[in-house]
Amino acid sequence: MQDTTPRKVAHQQTDRGYVPVYATGVVEQPWDSYSKTDHEVWDTLFKRQRELLPGRACKEFMEGVERFGLGDGGIPKFSELNQVLKAATGWKVVAVEGLLPDEVFFDHLANRRFPVSWWIRKPDQLDYLSEPDLFHDLFGHVPLLLNPVFADYMQAYGRGGMKAFAIGPDALMNLTRLYWYTVEFGLINTAEGMRIYGAGIVSSKGESIYALDSPSPNRIGFDLERVMSTRYRIDTYQQTYIVINGFDQLFDATRPDFTPLYAQLAQAPAHAAGDVLEGDRVFTRGDRQGWATGTDT
Ligand code: PHE
Ligand code: CO
Repeated sequence: MQDTTPRKVAHQQTDRGYVPVYATGVVEQPWDSYSKTDHEVWDTLFKRQRELLPGRACKEFMEGVERFGLGDGGIPKFSELNQVLKAATGWKVVAVEGLLPDEVFFDHLANRRFPVSWWIRKPDQLDYLSEPDLFHDLFGHVPLLLNPVFADYMQAYGRGGMKAFAIGPDALMNLTRLYWYTVEFGLINTAEGMRIYGAGIVSSKGESIYALDSPSPNRIGFDLERVMSTRYRIDTYQQTYIVINGFDQLFDATRPDFTPLYAQLAQAPAHAAGDVLEGDRVFTRGDRQGWATGTDT
């Protein structure tokens, strides 16, 4: 393992103020400079999801929220969350400005560091913003890092990312689709019913409802090749959600070396985001109502 404590290298003036910056894009969480409004935005979003998610999010996610003691007492301090994380799974969160270059992001994950944007959305962006902020990154992603199997999956993904990055852009695209359909927008079929685990869903009020209740999207069982060859939407709710049976399934299916798979996938065209294919395990076939025309990523 490489060093897990990034080294401070410079200071940086950003459009959100002045923050110390570290190698690998890390900054210090400027907790004292959050405004009253920033804390209120957290509280509002938190309360909304706390009401909505019981019976919708999987129990592992809800347990994580509980164990961190996340609440509506303002924006959490990363240093406090890190004490819980360290004892549980050895992960830590690090503050960053926003989206990172792929290889930097992978290096963080491979070393069990999860990058969290330090800034939070404005009150007029409660329902949508186009880049990940603190609420998405922290509330959406971090609770599951307390689950040992999911925690290992995330690290394995980081290592796999470095490998895919070295192989080339097509491999990277295949791997990014896997992240999108699992870590960001995954559903999990449990004995109690269909539940959410994807960070992009649990951090969004609208999609927390849509992903489980809407007749529009497809809900299709997880298959590694299928997922890695399926394009996705970045501008609307998903047209297809991928359903796993448990985190063990995800971890086991992604254990083999992807190198031959990347070579094979490069030979075949990708599927559209909303397609249902022969051989799919279909939980629900979407009625495609309200699907925007336009291109998938
Ligand atoms: N097994 C993958 C590879 O060899 C790495 C990986 C693990 C990717 C878990 C994603 C998730 O590239
Ligand atoms: Co995310």
